[in-house]
Amino acid sequence: TPLSHIRNFSIVAHIDHGKSTLADRLIQETNTVAERDMKAQMLDNMDIERERGITIKAQTVRINYTALNGEEYILNLIDTPGHVDFAYEVSRSMRAVEGSLLVVDSTQGVEAQTLANVYHAIDADHEIVPVLNKIDLPATDCDRVAEQIEDVIGIDASDAIRVSAKTGEGIIETLEAVVHKLPAPTGTLDAPLKAMLVDSWYDSYLGVIVLVRIMDGQLKKGERIKMLSNGSTHHVDRIGVFRPEMTEIDALGPGELGFLTASIKQVRDTSVGDTITHEKKGCTEALPGFKPSQPVVFCGLFPVDAAQFEDLRDSIEKLALNDASFSYEMETSAALGFGFRCGFLGLLHLEVIRDRIEREYDIDLITTAPSVIYDIHMRDGTVEQLHNPADMPDLTFVDHIEEPRIKATILVPDDYLGDVLKLCQDRRGIQEDLTYAGSRAMVVYDLPLNEVVFDFYDRLKSVTKGYASFDYQMIGYREDSLVKMSILVNDEPVDALSTMVHRDRAEMRGRAMVEKLKDLIPRHMFKIPIQAAIGGKVIARETLSAMRKDVTAKCYGGDASRKRKLLDKQKAGKKKMRQFGKVDIPQEAFISALKMD
Ligand code: GTP
Repeated sequence: TPLSHIRNFSIVAHIDHGKSTLADRLIQETNTVAERDMKAQMLDNMDIERERGITIKAQTVRINYTALNGEEYILNLIDTPGHVDFAYEVSRSMRAVEGSLLVVDSTQGVEAQTLANVYHAIDADHEIVPVLNKIDLPATDCDRVAEQIEDVIGIDASDAIRVSAKTGEGIIETLEAVVHKLPAPTGTLDAPLKAMLVDSWYDSYLGVIVLVRIMDGQLKKGERIKMLSNGSTHHVDRIGVFRPEMTEIDALGPGELGFLTASIKQVRDTSVGDTITHEKKGCTEALPGFKPSQPVVFCGLFPVDAAQFEDLRDSIEKLALNDASFSYEMETSAALGFGFRCGFLGLLHLEVIRDRIEREYDIDLITTAPSVIYDIHMRDGTVEQLHNPADMPDLTFVDHIEEPRIKATILVPDDYLGDVLKLCQDRRGIQEDLTYAGSRAMVVYDLPLNEVVFDFYDRLKSVTKGYASFDYQMIGYREDSLVKMSILVNDEPVDALSTMVHRDRAEMRGRAMVEKLKDLIPRHMFKIPIQAAIGGKVIARETLSAMRKDVTAKCYGGDASRKRKLLDKQKAGKKKMRQFGKVDIPQEAFISALKMD
């Protein structure tokens, strides 16, 4: 196919505005998939994605479309991940295509992720076609939303396409716009091979599958390729395209998107954004802007049942093979025993991995509170990176501590603005901007990442009844007055409950935590003091009074089977507990104690 008849594009949208539904429609309209094979949300592969309704791994599909002018086109659609945790993957996959459909729900309007994603598209020099979706709904207001797109994003929306991905209205117009409004790719067939590694994932039959976009040159089956980032070389044993099922072809040329397999064993051996060329006579200059993605949120994962430690190791190793942005190292905790300290791109990433371990590998986990990486500037001039508050060095050697900050953009209806400002203020935010787009306010805050990773998003949703949208980017490290707060249960420090807090808030947080723990820890046969401390100084204290915990006392000795049932029930309850010293701490305490109301 000549370059002039190829179009490569992505769909950018806020969550739930209909990206997957529209993609399904485009596939269906062009008969890319036989009707009977069509399942809802063709592009979302994994069960968890489907359940949570989010798209995590970029997927791609090649569509053959005969336009109204009678010409045959190849349309390559890349599905980009929509969540902030995967911002780097979004920005890379955008660079593999020339245009974007900007889908906005015409009953809702522009949201925070609409903005974040469209900025990635603008950064990648995309031609952008606005699509107003859900016009079948009574609340649709295309004129207002088009105006909002022009005001807030600053792109022309006067001929935005009006679509219902549900009924199919406007789908042909959308396909025609892809052909006539988006540019064709460029590239030279005779030049040395230059291809972008857009994405990669593990397949149990084929090993690692690499999604590539050919910039220049041609890639054929059987050739030897080289990754420019690390010089590793591989023999290409398969080349193909997604329709959307994998279909082998012999070669990929400039402007094309497709996959290769090359007996690569781990996804770790491939880096998104890397340049792929031929081993011999290859290109020497890499594609610009390559950087490996770095985990920013850390937490401990421990098996509830210590006997499952090896199973946990096994599951983590397997998941890591397929996810280069997930890091782990072994950790031992006095309270929780053997486990792993794991690093993630963000909270959603953490939840997805934790769910997969629990579900796919059937391991009950204790997850410790998420934490960020602090830079500890020592008096001797060195800098230590603190991944776990429990490892905080002796304060006498510490000069100052820096923490990561983010720029958060929140869009919210007027009515809830006050609550949002209060929430951001409570989380040590510094307001940077406040503007209006219609009846919605857009606030920009500089916030400590640590205050956001835990339950900020949940709180934001709850104070705005779900009407706010949120997006963030990292802006760097800044010094603040931070201290490590320890929690002592029955006079012994519980390392897994240590947290870094701001000095001015330590007392408030400490009091809240010990009060929560008092409710979370069941009464024992003895009195249990629960304390929060900074260094040696106790800043908050509660006492859990003693209780004789004899569950069978009420059974008058008579009914033996009932007695046994009660004991069994008590034993099952125990399983979810961790014994610490003489005290049983329930699993949920490790997370619940840190939630702020
Ligand atoms: P993520 O994949 O989670 O980012 O969401 P998405 O943007 O892909 O949204 P999705 O396609 O899952 O659609 C969200 C919801 O809107 C679903 O319940 C769809 O059925 C519904 N929906 C999508 N398009 C339309 C439309 O044109 N009309 C109506 N009435 N509902 C629609």
